[in-house]
Amino acid sequence: MQTMHTKPILVKGLHKSYKQHQVLKGVDLEVEKGSIFALLGSNGAGKTTLVRILTTLLQSDGGTAAVNGFDVASKPDLVRQSISLTGQFAAVDEILTGRENLNMIAKLRYLPNPRKVAEEMLTRFGLVEAADRRVSTYSGGMRRRLDIALSLVGNPQILFLDEPTTGLDPEARIEVWKVVKELADGGTTVFLTTQYLEEAEQLADRIAILHEGRIIANGTLHELKKLFPTAKVEYVEKQPTLEEIFLAIIGKEAV
Ligand SMILES: Nc1ncnc2c1ncn2[C@@H]1O[C@H](COP(=O)(O)OP(=O)(O)OP(=O)(O)O)[C@@H](O)[C@H]1O
Ligand SMILES: [Mg+2]
Repeated sequence: MQTMHTKPILVKGLHKSYKQHQVLKGVDLEVEKGSIFALLGSNGAGKTTLVRILTTLLQSDGGTAAVNGFDVASKPDLVRQSISLTGQFAAVDEILTGRENLNMIAKLRYLPNPRKVAEEMLTRFGLVEAADRRVSTYSGGMRRRLDIALSLVGNPQILFLDEPTTGLDPEARIEVWKVVKELADGGTTVFLTTQYLEEAEQLADRIAILHEGRIIANGTLHELKKLFPTAKVEYVEKQPTLEEIFLAIIGKEAV
């Protein structure tokens, strides 16, 4: 059973294939409570596949994964009660207003006072002015903030964000980063996937690189910087960017 010392996310030897195509070939990772963990990988690396397994939407073929101390395969209901997922593609209802979307989710989660919950979320995410407009009129950044707000209804302990800022402009991206940082400061564990190395650099306590089915590097930004082959750093005073480290680790040259 779950104990105080359980890691929020613990993955060992996870495998997943789609027919002949082996996507995950033995993934191992752990995430500490209240930390932000960033999973990096190129298109098709298997990031969404891993998130779907951890959020009980997809079954693995082998290995184990526990979320909040519960095995995802045998205790999916308990896992679902501990988590929330903001998928790669926004899940808001366009026809409804922001307020209606929040109200609906709070009702679906059987919260005692859905209107109050909606009001609090609108304030927290800077959506009060737009609250009564249809979501179809929102900008990408507003939609994403609403999407994250929706996934936080009911205060989940562990939040999965699959590419939370893809397609956002730099300003909206910074807004989302702020929200994510505040959540982690409040004790929420955040597992995010991203293709933006700067995002990982800005947000993550730990960064893991998923490549050819395995985690080929995992550490703090500082630790990953140490992995970067120093011979390639031309100026001693210049720190390598995470992009350079990423490309060096997966065996590609920066252009
Ligand atoms: N349902 C499916 N059936 C068959 N193949 C799939 C399925 N879902 C994903 N794949 C394949 O598995 C691989 C990993 O996909 P996944 O969506 O997990 O990658 P990703 O790292 O999230 O990529 P992206 O950065 O583009 O979101 C890809 O080659 C994809 O085509
Ligand atoms: Mg994906």
